[in-house]
Amino acid sequence: MESTRRGLIATAFALPASWAAFTRNLQAATALDDAYWRMVQRQFPLEDNLLYLNAANVCPASRPVMDRHLEYLRDFHANPSFQNRDKYTALRENLRQKAARLLRVTADEIAVTRNTSEGSNIIVKGIDLKAGDEILITDHNHPSNNDSWKVRAKRDGLVVKSLPVPIPAPSAGELLGSIERAVTPRTRVIAITHVTSTTGILYPAREVAELARRKNIWMHLDGAQSFGCLDVDLAAIPCDSYSTSAHKWLMGPLEAGLLFVRAGRIAELWPSIVTAGWADDLKGARKFEVFGQRDDPRVVALEASLDFVSLIGMANVEARARALASRAKAGLKAIGNVELKTNLQPELSAGVVKFKLRNMATKAAYDKLWERHRLAIASTLSGDSEGLRFSPHIYNSFEQVDAAVAAVKELAG
Ligand SMILES: Cc1ncc(COP(=O)(O)O)c(C=O)c1O
Repeated sequence: MESTRRGLIATAFALPASWAAFTRNLQAATALDDAYWRMVQRQFPLEDNLLYLNAANVCPASRPVMDRHLEYLRDFHANPSFQNRDKYTALRENLRQKAARLLRVTADEIAVTRNTSEGSNIIVKGIDLKAGDEILITDHNHPSNNDSWKVRAKRDGLVVKSLPVPIPAPSAGELLGSIERAVTPRTRVIAITHVTSTTGILYPAREVAELARRKNIWMHLDGAQSFGCLDVDLAAIPCDSYSTSAHKWLMGPLEAGLLFVRAGRIAELWPSIVTAGWADDLKGARKFEVFGQRDDPRVVALEASLDFVSLIGMANVEARARALASRAKAGLKAIGNVELKTNLQPELSAGVVKFKLRNMATKAAYDKLWERHRLAIASTLSGDSEGLRFSPHIYNSFEQVDAAVAAVKELAG
């Protein structure tokens, strides 16, 4: 393991035993082989007979992350004095630094939010816009980056243009082209999803952001399905804002998230929530995270989840998550009655795998997979992205992915 990964964990407390053991074992590993990934898998408290392939919805937190969360939760409630809680300010700054390092941005550009939805809504509500301004979104954006724009449009007379999403995606060039063709002189915002939760398309975020920058259009990127799965580099993707959640691919606490706002854009963004502790001169994106009393121990858990992926190395996490998804796609594609909705090409896909059974109603298949195999996945019951969704992550093995594919094959006949 590289020495840079060793020095990452700075804590106010001694590390819980689970961290010490995990760190020691990882550092002793000489290769990212099956034994290594089994060791990672053992850090998660998932039930033995549960086939959990639903990272795109909620990931389990690892034991080391939960242990640090619980430790600070106990500390907080044992002594809720201002004096004891003082340390959380410094801990939040640690977390900000670590998040910024992972995303290759500066700490001042990071706000600690409660989830992707909140981060995206801070953008939707906060940009100065006037009647007639156009917002470009896609039909496959999550409601927090789709319906939220429509609500704002209704209130302020904006025009929302929503692009259909081809299934499967034809090419990165064509995805970019469809956005480029829809831009008009009145377009003020392009708000897209890095990896869609619907069919798992990886959008050419860098190219779209470069287009937006050339035309001085605000580009917001929903990163709910990319952070913690892909090695996201916001130095290479010149978007203006990026929102994400900790409880998905990052395997962190619930109701914790990050919002990145590019330094040059911070002054243009109105804060939606202003309360005690807020000040106009709060440095950088910090002015977007003042929501009244926060759940301080959760901040420590979020920091721990950044430590966890950093110990493995984000590039290694991405490679493993992609390998698991590719295995699932290859297995599903070989089944006659399966229509794979997610692209196979790595430049057009990431960790989300969507497919539909041609011989069985989606709801019936979803129920049978749970009843017969305790296969926990997600489903979409109507529309162009109808189907079942697999989203394996580093706590899954290839054997589990194969078992999930075999369970689908049993239904497909
Ligand atoms: C693409 C995308 N954006 C936003 C969200 C919302 O995430 P959260 O509920 O953590 O705010 C989701 C949730 O699945 C999602 O898939």
